[in-house]
Amino acid sequence: MNDIIIQNIGALILPKKTEGPLKGEALDELKIVNNGTVVVKDGKVVYSGEYSEAYEAKEIIDASNKVVSPGLVDAHTHLVFGGSREHEMALKQQGVSYLDILKQGGGILSTVASTRQSTEAELYEKSKKEMVRMIQFGTTTVEAKSGYGLDKETELKQLNVAHQLDQDMPMRMKHTFLGPHAVPKEAKDNATFLQEMIDLLDDVKDKADFADIFCETGVFTIEESRRYMQAAKEKGLKVKIHADEIDPLGGLGLAIEEGAISADHLVASSEADKQALSNSDTVAVLLPGTTFYLGKDQYADARGMIANNGAIAIATDFNPGSCVTDNLQLVMSIAALKLKLTPNEIWNAVTVNAAKAIDVEAGTIEAGDQADIVVWDIPNHEYLPYHYGVNHAEVVIINGKKVYQNTGLLNVT
Ligand code: NIG
Ligand code: FE
Repeated sequence: MNDIIIQNIGALILPKKTEGPLKGEALDELKIVNNGTVVVKDGKVVYSGEYSEAYEAKEIIDASNKVVSPGLVDAHTHLVFGGSREHEMALKQQGVSYLDILKQGGGILSTVASTRQSTEAELYEKSKKEMVRMIQFGTTTVEAKSGYGLDKETELKQLNVAHQLDQDMPMRMKHTFLGPHAVPKEAKDNATFLQEMIDLLDDVKDKADFADIFCETGVFTIEESRRYMQAAKEKGLKVKIHADEIDPLGGLGLAIEEGAISADHLVASSEADKQALSNSDTVAVLLPGTTFYLGKDQYADARGMIANNGAIAIATDFNPGSCVTDNLQLVMSIAALKLKLTPNEIWNAVTVNAAKAIDVEAGTIEAGDQADIVVWDIPNHEYLPYHYGVNHAEVVIINGKKVYQNTGLLNVT
């Protein structure tokens, strides 16, 4: 007997399973089945497609003509951290820039202080709360970075917390070591600190899938980033980079040269680097929620990257400073409004392509796939980015189990 049948699906969103990420025009191709059926058994999809009566199951979910899609994949988050930085909002309102706040010992460094002070149990409870919220918003796979320790003990503490959550929570996770995220106050100089983080790779390599670095003015240079990426690859880690977020240092070009699995942010990337995307499978992970939250007018040139046959994914960048939201649906709306992506491109960017950016088998719901599925309370697939800032997720299924259902108000008729 099957476990669940979802029947009466108005629009069943079926992103295409491919070897590499969807690139260029292919990003706008999305299969949508009207009046679809999905069947789930033992954590896996048994059937997805046109309406079928050929199956029985213990539970029938009537989707009432609504939309069903694979669970969303959030390919870039800083999930585990201590404290919060609401006081920086006033500084931002006064026009103090993100990098100036960091230079004054605030920003990332203030979260480093709070994270060092937090116990593993405190970090666990705090991150778990965020994860619960992510699931409620329809995210079923998440990448989590360290990077608020900048020392061995705290970086390991963050990675351990993320692994504990991976064990305890239904969500699928990928883990990233982001030791070179900023230069701590106690460091002798950038180069010495970077070497310390390179030396740490041996200690973290079994706890991380990826190594990441913040390549930015006043943080790490292109040459330092190259050195780190090469050292990480020697240890068997795949690499990622926070590139061209604020200044056009050339991080995207470096990522492509080094065969990074993704290059993230890319707001200020050069034309030449964007063109180089055409011959590369490095996924451009765009984080328009961050540009919005930092109050900038210039967004990443998603249209230009797609015209150059690049592969695009969209993620939240959830973190306590530059994008304080775990709602990927909101970021899908910002992607429509500011990156000018089409609804098809957006759905692919938060499912299949996001999965490629973190090397995970997710983002599709074909027979045999892990059953991570969301029923959305919307009339069609274009509606989600259109009606912004609210939660449209009605039912969330992870690994074949219903883990969230929006049960509505209480004591209201
Ligand atoms: O991706 N830019 C570097 N890291 C994060 C922000 C971290 C923070 O401000 O705490 C980002 O935007
Ligand atoms: Fe980030």
